[in-house]
Amino acid sequence: MERKFDKRILCIGAGYVGGPTMSVIASKCPHYKVTVADIDTEKIAAWNSDKLPIYEPGLKEIVMEARGKNLFFTTQIDEAIKEAEVIFVSVNTPTKTGGVGAGMASDLRYWENTARRIRANADSPKIIVEKSTVPVKTAEAMERILSVGDKQGMFEVLSNPEFLAEGTAIKDLENPDRVLIGAKETDSGKKAGDILVEIYANWVPREKIITSNIWSSEMAKLASNAFLAQRVSSINTIANLCERSGANIREVSRAVGMDHRIGPYFLNAGIGFGGSCFKKDILSLVYLCREAGANQEADYWESVVRINEHQKNRFVRRMVSAMFNSMAEKRIAIFGFAFKPDTCDIREAPAITITRRLLAEGANLAITDPKALEEARRAIGDQDGHVEYIDDPYKAAEKSHAIAVLTEWKIYGELDYKRIYGSMEKPAFFFDGRNVVDHKALFDIGFNVYPVGMPALTHF
Ligand code: UDX
Ligand code: UDX
Repeated sequence: MERKFDKRILCIGAGYVGGPTMSVIASKCPHYKVTVADIDTEKIAAWNSDKLPIYEPGLKEIVMEARGKNLFFTTQIDEAIKEAEVIFVSVNTPTKTGGVGAGMASDLRYWENTARRIRANADSPKIIVEKSTVPVKTAEAMERILSVGDKQGMFEVLSNPEFLAEGTAIKDLENPDRVLIGAKETDSGKKAGDILVEIYANWVPREKIITSNIWSSEMAKLASNAFLAQRVSSINTIANLCERSGANIREVSRAVGMDHRIGPYFLNAGIGFGGSCFKKDILSLVYLCREAGANQEADYWESVVRINEHQKNRFVRRMVSAMFNSMAEKRIAIFGFAFKPDTCDIREAPAITITRRLLAEGANLAITDPKALEEARRAIGDQDGHVEYIDDPYKAAEKSHAIAVLTEWKIYGELDYKRIYGSMEKPAFFFDGRNVVDHKALFDIGFNVYPVGMPALTHF
């Protein structure tokens, strides 16, 4: 029965990257067998159930279509390694919490464990594809681990960084700006690279599949994320200046973005970037710079992260000062907890820092989010009754002194704010951390409105 497949592909790591990426490969390549393996049994059970472990628009449909046909989720990693010809590794690479490079360098223990496991179980040649974001030169280190002993020459390691953004993962995978494949500049490296090119060529136009050496590929991933994050920090510094000068960040972003050399994307000011990649990748870049003795360069990139922290603190300070310097026992409705809309992911979400700071000020919080409420509850807990988790934003806002929008979910721009205003304590405050509502309309209803990067609209 197995013979009907042209190729057997395995991905180790069934997370936000591995799960959607493999689901799209399976859906685009019915002639390949695609297996996704993970050490987490609960996660694999969820992938095999009706309630997938992650929310991503369009994901469920393609999983349901391919699962059991050519897409399989398993915890039997060793068996899966044996039968696969191409193995993607998409295990997590968090920032190190101790030892050399703590707080900066990536912790590669999961990558390394996975490499050892592949080596122990492989009995035929395999192409290993590095999908996790890992510092430059990791592929080389992995190859060393893989090729010791009698398995020399059995593995070819490629770098194939993932550029999908959560919330639009399926769209990004189906229609990528580019697919980047880094391979060793040897005959066997090029041959392995070609095999991976063929896989993507099933649905991606050839001109969008580019190849490079491995180190360029790894560096391009870090640089892409650093550039994107840098744009967010840059626009946030300008927004803060706008608040003090009477300029309006929306008007500024629009004018700046119309220069085709700059472009209109990633110019939304807010409470800072979150997500599992930006901070980790920049810190990784900073660490690489310092290791190379490039301290000016390290300082430059580190400031992108510093501005991001500043942005969150500044938002809380603005809230406290607007609300007469006292948050004690005031009820604040938190609209949105996910690090961005259309995902349940809260890793590095600005909401985590902001809610903790508000709790430290003595506030009571009513948190609502369309998809990430359970994740929020797990991260923050009930704090001796000071935090409630409420599905319905109208209920969350009831009897609150203020609303703070922390995620730009579309629905927060569409609520009946007259009704909400009527149910709140007065004076009612609205802190729009993502500039999603019509500020003038809310002001006219009676709210005191504090957008990002624009002067406040208040009735005082
Ligand atoms: C991962 C990396 O963290 C990131 O650096 C890279 O850019 C993309 O891949 P993500 O998929 O979001 O990101 O991580 P996560 O959702 O945490 O998934 C990783 C999975 O690997 C987890 O399900 C974990 O259980 C699994 N894992 C980890 C293994 O299967 N084996 C291990 O040894 C370690
Ligand atoms: C990012 C990269 O975009 C993706 O290519 C890479 O593979 C992984 O990291 P992701 O973290 O999923 O993707 O989301 P992204 O859309 O980049 O947003 C990151 C953060 O920046 C979010 O918190 C978002 O709210 C914030 N952001 C984004 C802004 O504050 N302003 C903007 O204009 C854009």
